[in-house]
Amino acid sequence: LEKEKEKIYEINKEAARFYYYNLMKNKKALMYLKNRNINKRVLNQFGLGYAQDSWNSIYEYLKSKGYKDLDIEKTELVGKKKDNTGYYDKFRNRIMFPIIDIRDRVIGFGGRVLDNSMPKYLNSKDTLVFTKGNNLYGLNLVKKLSNREKIILVEGYMDVISLFNHGINYAVASLGTAFTRNQGRLIKRYGKEVYICYDSDNAGINATIKALNILMEEGIDPKVIVLPSGQDPDDFINKNGIEEFEKLMDKALNFIEYQIYVNKLKFNLVNPEEKIIFTKEISKALKKLKSPIEKDVYIDKISLATGISKEAIKSEVFGKNYKSN
Ligand code: CTP
Ligand code: MN
Ligand code: MN
Ligand code: MN
Ligand code: MN
Repeated sequence: LEKEKEKIYEINKEAARFYYYNLMKNKKALMYLKNRNINKRVLNQFGLGYAQDSWNSIYEYLKSKGYKDLDIEKTELVGKKKDNTGYYDKFRNRIMFPIIDIRDRVIGFGGRVLDNSMPKYLNSKDTLVFTKGNNLYGLNLVKKLSNREKIILVEGYMDVISLFNHGINYAVASLGTAFTRNQGRLIKRYGKEVYICYDSDNAGINATIKALNILMEEGIDPKVIVLPSGQDPDDFINKNGIEEFEKLMDKALNFIEYQIYVNKLKFNLVNPEEKIIFTKEISKALKKLKSPIEKDVYIDKISLATGISKEAIKSEVFGKNYKSN
């Protein structure tokens, strides 16, 4: 099995080189990255590449290097043709993002179309060396470059790259919104102050709440960077610059503040029924805080915001055992 894995790492690395070489030769792909403000330094840092618009170029290249079909197949870069007459390239006409682990091995790839066609991103299927939920995109560079004070969790390849592009060398992506416990443990190892900055859309908000819960269960006190509606970190930085992003970092919300923010978006506090649901939602969140002092501070805030008495909120939060003096 170790031998098998080594082979996959080796073929993946060879493929990444090939994709890089193709990118350097392809004006359209280079122009795409230029239009997205990616500079040469960062392009090289992340080893970006381009998969040609061809059904067999990576397959033929790997064959020419002497690799066997059965080994090439295990990388998931190629698929078997339906009629069993050979293989086809899965990534075609896409910008390629090698996914590299903290031991500098290429474990998989993401590929993005250069236009609006679908699917926008294609990722390697899980292989012997790649489990999506066990890795964070960019962590190899964070391990090398960051001082491990701060770490920012984002959704996408381009969000990480955009942050590095602007000198923030402590960003990683969960590659989508399904953040896992294993990713939580990795985050904890590489940053003391953890920030979440997912896309500001419904999927991103729900994923933020899930990630907050996972990180808190890891004993972290995470903060959320809130972006204007509809934007992701890459969008925001390209529009407003990195200084404005850093201002948002300074204003990042903690767990309860974020719950209040999200539930205020959802519920109209002028409507009594919605006010009740709002207060119950926040009370549920307050139960997760360990410190009674923190609970108290936020109970005051919620009471002020809703006009509901502190006593009522306290018994909601502390349950049956709560006795007022
Ligand atoms: N993703 C994916 N497959 C998709 C869409 C998204 O794997 N069909 C993952 C990718 O890792 C992507 C991340 O989810 O980077 C976030 O998705 P999205 O916000 O839709 O893409 P962006 O990263 O913003 O892509 P871009 O800026 O290039 O448009
Ligand atoms: Mn999104
Ligand atoms: Mn996005
Ligand atoms: Mn998007
Ligand atoms: Mn984006």
